[in-house]
Amino acid sequence: MHHASVAIDPALPLAPVDPRLYGSFVEHMGRCVYTGIYEPGHSSAAPDGFRTDVADLVRELGVPVIRYPGGNFVSGYTWEDGIGPRSQRPRRLDLAWRSIETNQVGVDEFLDWTAQVGSQAMMAVNLGTRGVDAARNLVEYTNHPAGTYWSDLRRANGYPDPPSVRLWCLGNEMDGPWQIGHKTAYEYARLAAETAKAMRRVDPSIELAAAGSSHQRMPTFGAWEAEVLEHTYDVVDYISLHSYYEQFGDDRDSFLARAADFDRFIESVVATADHVGAKLGRTKKINLSMDEWNVWYQQRFPGEDNLDWGEAPRLIEDTYSVTDAVVVGNLLISLLKHADRVKIGCLAQLVNVIAPIRSEPGGPAWRQASFHPFALTSRYGRGTVLRTAVTAPTHETAAQGDVPILDMVALHDEEGGGVTVFAVNRDQRQPATLDLDLRAFGALTAGEHTAIADEDPDAVNTADRPDRVRPHRLDDVKVTDGRASAVLPPLSWSMIRVM
Ligand code: AHR
Repeated sequence: MHHASVAIDPALPLAPVDPRLYGSFVEHMGRCVYTGIYEPGHSSAAPDGFRTDVADLVRELGVPVIRYPGGNFVSGYTWEDGIGPRSQRPRRLDLAWRSIETNQVGVDEFLDWTAQVGSQAMMAVNLGTRGVDAARNLVEYTNHPAGTYWSDLRRANGYPDPPSVRLWCLGNEMDGPWQIGHKTAYEYARLAAETAKAMRRVDPSIELAAAGSSHQRMPTFGAWEAEVLEHTYDVVDYISLHSYYEQFGDDRDSFLARAADFDRFIESVVATADHVGAKLGRTKKINLSMDEWNVWYQQRFPGEDNLDWGEAPRLIEDTYSVTDAVVVGNLLISLLKHADRVKIGCLAQLVNVIAPIRSEPGGPAWRQASFHPFALTSRYGRGTVLRTAVTAPTHETAAQGDVPILDMVALHDEEGGGVTVFAVNRDQRQPATLDLDLRAFGALTAGEHTAIADEDPDAVNTADRPDRVRPHRLDDVKVTDGRASAVLPPLSWSMIRVM
């Protein structure tokens, strides 16, 4: 049995949690939109064609913000194709995923659906094949009340009130050679700066994220962020980060420790952003938008060049295990530990495509294993993140070096008065006792402990067994003289709530 301990004190706040940390992402890719969120003719479909069974799961998951419409898709997208009468919308080649885009779902339908599931949109504009004009027209279409060409067109299309999208991404992964309209840092930075200025002229209240590196192994990582921010610092609010993890071979210890890498990634982008701020002599801080993150078994994806012009093809429909769910839970802990600078997070993606929710055409929808730590963190990970320093044993991993076997974060819910701790035990064999020193809170007495843990770390949920993996309530937690203790099973994610 391992032993770890931590003192938790409400007098040590790190930052309030921005609920937008619990966002997700809908891309026109594979079956995320078509036969994912939208499937007219399905037995659960509402009159607008969107599946209510999927919408119910989206509400349960708790995603206050949803990024749209890509991803790589956006870099070749003509948003005007997706408005107006459906029968007149063009079928197009989507060059990003070598698929057919029918445009039966577009901006209007998506924004309508986003409001129905209780979320707000984070819209991305195309800075691959398009630029300033298309972007500023889109802001006029979605955010301007009336009396102009684009706002009146929206009204004529049946949407009298402007949905008023607040959050916008200036393109997607423009550093990637695979991207349609790939650019150098300078080319992208200048375009992003001028697009940002024009979009803000249409609506000064919007928030903008500049595209950071596609991932931290890009050869231009760091230099890209620095050059982009040097040109855009005054006109953007966020720099974006993307990060996907997978297990290689049987090296599960390294996979379980990937949040250590995620921590370093976040901290290096913060350092780069602050370096540029210092160089420019600005007091303003650029915050981080982790607008694509998840577990993704990229080694199983044959690559976009091998795809074949399908309509809603099955693309990267990864099935997530207990182990994957624990890693997802740990990545959320990492985001929370950086809540002072990471304000937006988008679990990529929402349905079918590397997603917490799966659906079958004409069939059921169900929760993947990774759904559960996300839904619980989104629901209970509210309030203020506290600064803590956990004392835990470490173990050696091949890819991550020496890492603590236990990672955790604590939040104080000022309204409810309680404390919530999210923790992972990365050891595959031994349980770990976590001792909590809660004396600074005075009145806390007892709590609950819910965990994702299983004797089979490869167990998954399927259409036939949709609840094979789900959270279990473990022994309740007693607080005696301000101290409590919980036993974290081997290879587990836990939520401990003390009231
Ligand atoms: O989420 C899948 C893809 O991953 C996105 O389209 C792209 O932005 C990233 O590389």
